[in-house]
Amino acid sequence: MHQQSLQQIPRLVVLISGSGSNLQALIDAITAGTIVATIELVISNKPEAMGLTRANKAGIATQVINHLEFGSREAFDRELMHAIDDKQPELVVLAGFMRIFTPELTHHFHGRMLNIHPSLLPQFKGTNTHERAIEAEVDQHGASVHFVSSELDGGPMVLQALVPVEDLDSPRVLAARVLVQEHVIYPIAIKWFCEGRLKLQNNLVLMDGHRLPVEGMKFQS
Ligand code: GRF
Repeated sequence: MHQQSLQQIPRLVVLISGSGSNLQALIDAITAGTIVATIELVISNKPEAMGLTRANKAGIATQVINHLEFGSREAFDRELMHAIDDKQPELVVLAGFMRIFTPELTHHFHGRMLNIHPSLLPQFKGTNTHERAIEAEVDQHGASVHFVSSELDGGPMVLQALVPVEDLDSPRVLAARVLVQEHVIYPIAIKWFCEGRLKLQNNLVLMDGHRLPVEGMKFQS
């Protein structure tokens, strides 16, 4: 991780692909002064992403890097790395960014890239997590914040929100219940990182200098 002086306000770059409600939760936390940081840039791989409008409304610079315009994943990731590095962020925040990265990119941002995933990892990696949780008849579902590694949805765990699954839940209803908790735990984890309390060291997650359990901290609403 890049060391930062205490005087320096952490710079963030946020990557989105869609609605950007997690981005909005982060913007709101920064506006409220709960998180002291600046969002230098919001990047979307989709030109139509609603999150771009949210960023514009908040006066945050945006950039579209459309993966469809690149001949390979490597070329797309190189452009992405270039655009992110240009802003020299202390932290890269994946907020519903729906692309799989090359190992080159994940190594480059090792220890300074967070993701939120809508399941209690390691359960239900990948997509359609709410459908799969209902099909599997689990009682507890949720969301996980983790550092990004080269393993898809497999990086070191920081914080998980536990969300109950009700008998008559549809994927849509369950997704909405989980999303409310995403908006709680993601700003918390980002705040910890920005305050220098949360770190990845030797691939171990440290909070206030203490090692976290592999399943991360639990948050129950
Ligand atoms: C969230 O459920 C996030 O966990 C997942 O994609 C969704 C994005 O939602 N990766 P939003 O774009 O932040 O509203």
